[in-house]
Amino acid sequence: MAELKVTVRPNGPYVIQGPVQVVDWHGHPYPVSGPVTALCRCGHSENKPFCDGSHKRVGFQHEEPAPAE
Ligand code: FES
Repeated sequence: MAELKVTVRPNGPYVIQGPVQVVDWHGHPYPVSGPVTALCRCGHSENKPFCDGSHKRVGFQHEEPAPAE
């Protein structure tokens, strides 16, 4: 099984590359299209749980790189 890749974008969303199913707390799926999905982590999207670009409008700042190996 292929491993999903989740990239934490600087000052932006979580970007998931690969087929993914996003469900709510009841297990009901949100419509997802395409091979790349961006999940909001700024809390300001009008289309949660997905990123709609609002992080740029609100000036979301979070650049925390992973620890160096
Ligand atoms: S991270 Fe893009 S709208 Fe929240």
